[in-house]
Amino acid sequence: MNPDRRYRIAPSILSADFARLGEEVRQVIEAGADWIHFDVMDNHYVPNLSFGPMVCKALRPHSRVPIDVHLMVQPVDALAQAFCRAGADLVSFHPDASPHVDRTLQIIQAEGKQAGLVFNPATSLDALDYVIDKVDLVLIMSVNPGFGGQSFIDSALRKIERARKLIDQTGRDIRLEVDGGIKTDNIRRVADAGADTFVAGSAIFGQPDYQAVIGAMRRELAA
Ligand code: DX5
Ligand code: ZN
Repeated sequence: MNPDRRYRIAPSILSADFARLGEEVRQVIEAGADWIHFDVMDNHYVPNLSFGPMVCKALRPHSRVPIDVHLMVQPVDALAQAFCRAGADLVSFHPDASPHVDRTLQIIQAEGKQAGLVFNPATSLDALDYVIDKVDLVLIMSVNPGFGGQSFIDSALRKIERARKLIDQTGRDIRLEVDGGIKTDNIRRVADAGADTFVAGSAIFGQPDYQAVIGAMRRELAA
């Protein structure tokens, strides 16, 4: 694994106060967030509806850190391109939501952005077989997508270990992100399995002091 790979904490704004999103983004960045995780839901691929490219565009000036867009949408291509143009830095999508995964990756990278694939708890990593040399990010879901505040699904740990091995075999700088049910009391276990980037929604935005919880997560990662 890349020796200087720094851990990254990516608060998911799905759990933020939607009435004050700009302020929430600024505050969580001040509190130490490395990325802002944008959970995009279309009420088709997942049974929930969140926000579109316009919100990303509106928040772009408020975020001096990368915006990490997680598309839980189907179809993918048009929205992937729209989020790239709305200011996203990374766009990841579920391979089962695109009939042409390689083309969707190309659409994102043609916009000069980083592209990732997202794997649901029951989805195997097979979709990586012929594109792992093209992805910039692998996102492992440790909850079933659609809602914040769910419990971590332990079987994700085995998949994280397997993804870490696949990534290390490529020698490429691919980020391994985990999303769902990440808390201060399990982040170390997830890092030990091989993750380097951690999405946390309710664990952070559900707390009064963002700096305290992000600091506690960092101490667990440094332990
Ligand atoms: C679920 C989303 C997750 C979720 C994480 O579909 O992709 O990012 O918001 O929220 P917590 O950290 O509360 O599980
Ligand atoms: Zn997400």
